[in-house]
Amino acid sequence: MFLKCNSTRSRLARLAAVAGAIYVYASWAGAQTLPPAQSPADAYRKGCAACHESEARLIRAIPRGSDEQRLAWIRDFFNRHPCERDDLKPLIEQYLLEKSRR
Ligand code: HEC
Repeated sequence: MFLKCNSTRSRLARLAAVAGAIYVYASWAGAQTLPPAQSPADAYRKGCAACHESEARLIRAIPRGSDEQRLAWIRDFFNRHPCERDDLKPLIEQYLLEKSRR
């Protein structure tokens, strides 16, 4: 009985090890295959369009000001906001900065 209990536990441990290995491999493979962005517009599409199909409303939400002021607003906003592709944030910033120039 005791032995049986032990073997169940080691089977669980093996299962956990295998699951961990798969997880590590999957995140590695995922990081390897993320497609690069072709342009700032493409970066926006990859990072934001899942939730914001059009950027028109977002551009309106950015307050008027110099490039530095808008960039500061965008960066501050990003710190509290989801993004599908954190690695593309610099390109997305560039995209929003250009689009909100007025
Ligand atoms: C997981 C979903 C999701 C993703 C991804 C996302 N957003 Fe949002 N965003 C929201 C929601 C929800 C709101 C709240 C406004 C609303 O009700 O539409 C919002 C609001 C905003 C606003 C305020 C203006 C407004 O419409 O109220 C800006 C600016 C914005 N998002 C920019 C971005 C940018 C830039 C990206 C890409 C880096 C991004 N968001 C990615 C869900 C998302």
